[in-house]
Amino acid sequence: GEDTFKFYSEGKWQESASKKTVNVVNPSTQKVQYKVQACTQDEVNAVFASAKVAQKAWAKTPLWKRAELLHKAAAMLKEHKTPIAAALVKEIAKPAKDAVTEVVRSGDLISYCAEEGVRLLGEGKFIMSDSFPGTDRNKLCLASKIPLGTVLCIPPFNYPVNLAVSKIAPALIAGNAVVLKPPTQGAVSGLHMVHCFHLAGFPPGLLSCVTGKGSEIGDFLTTHPSVNCISFTGGDTGISIARKAGMVPMQMELGGKDACIVLEDADLDLVAANIIKGGFSYSGQRCTAIKVVLVLESVADKLVELVNAKVAKLSVGMPEDDAQITPVVTESSANFIEGLVKDAETKGATLCQAYKREGNLIWPVLIDHVKPEMRIAWEEPFGPILPVIRVKTVEEAIHHCNASQFGLQGCIFTQDINKAMFISDAMETGTVQINSAPARGPDHFPFQGIRDSGIGTQGIPNSILLMTKTKSTVINLP
Ligand code: G3H
Repeated sequence: GEDTFKFYSEGKWQESASKKTVNVVNPSTQKVQYKVQACTQDEVNAVFASAKVAQKAWAKTPLWKRAELLHKAAAMLKEHKTPIAAALVKEIAKPAKDAVTEVVRSGDLISYCAEEGVRLLGEGKFIMSDSFPGTDRNKLCLASKIPLGTVLCIPPFNYPVNLAVSKIAPALIAGNAVVLKPPTQGAVSGLHMVHCFHLAGFPPGLLSCVTGKGSEIGDFLTTHPSVNCISFTGGDTGISIARKAGMVPMQMELGGKDACIVLEDADLDLVAANIIKGGFSYSGQRCTAIKVVLVLESVADKLVELVNAKVAKLSVGMPEDDAQITPVVTESSANFIEGLVKDAETKGATLCQAYKREGNLIWPVLIDHVKPEMRIAWEEPFGPILPVIRVKTVEEAIHHCNASQFGLQGCIFTQDINKAMFISDAMETGTVQINSAPARGPDHFPFQGIRDSGIGTQGIPNSILLMTKTKSTVINLP
């Protein structure tokens, strides 16, 4: 039968007392691939209790030793890249090569985090009192960074390893404990990744991983009184978590509707290549995917022709064969994507390719002549379909981008850097890329969304700082 995986608590692999499991369905076969434990509330309580104890000792562990363990975990992850990538292929249908890349990138992220943490947290501040009016030179403030306690990390299905370590590594280097709740699709890759931290020799209880249905333990985790920080990436569940969570710092990366604005003077070959990479890699299942193309009318025909030629060359098939377009994560996701295509078609959009679906596998479609009354103009498909809106002016493009509920990233293609800077300034998004598709990496860059796209800033240094607090000691001289 299917492999059943234990959860990780107090440094040990355990079976849940619930005697229940949750199915991980392979998106390609639509059959159960793995089973993970359906953890109980008591088991959640236990991981928080052991996290609290382990964290106290961890915070006193020298920073260089914490860094050393993280470097070991990074090495373990790279050493085990093949089985972890294989799980990514089976659980989330990530193309085989991209799955390996995700694991290697994660190892690099952990190492960078260790280095950055040593520099950032290795020095504090010394502040004298006499710069503030009315104060003498008798108060000496020593400020340093201390950990928050326990960080609850909830990564999404699309990067179950990378977006887990982007939360875990900053939390640990800063002296925090971690409770990880992986997504169901991606849970096994997550557990394999946790095993690398186990092999690296982190103290028991410092990092735990509980599995189960979000609908059963999700609220219990996110509202747990022992949580001192939440780092979440995913869909609009993040908005309800933010509403219900207590008074804790939060980092939220939610959806996106990243626009690609194409000016008349753009290098259209470059644009077409970036639309393919930005719109269709991992079948569009990235928060930073290009999700709407806003092209000036005069170059629209030419651009659509160039993109269509490249869409025709995309390989469609199974992740094991490293196809570029692979089955989307769940049947309900495929149904949602199909709904967006049908809505656009009914309302008069042009499907540049015939719509085709087998199970969760959806063939890529460029949808031209999209109008604002179509759902695809605003909604996030998380699939291999991409709308093109032809605009008369740059202002119209900027307006569309800013009218979105999302504000993650966006990109502009033009040879005129002055125009690019002007448009970037007008775009209300967390990041604007000039002459390249949106992307989170390199992973030390600031990464943030505005409006419904998120709370706080990620990127290695920002995440480390978010997971700490300033502590001051003031020496008062007579
Ligand atoms: O899905 C959201 C990720 O943060 C996007 O990361 O730009 O590296 O694909 P990426």
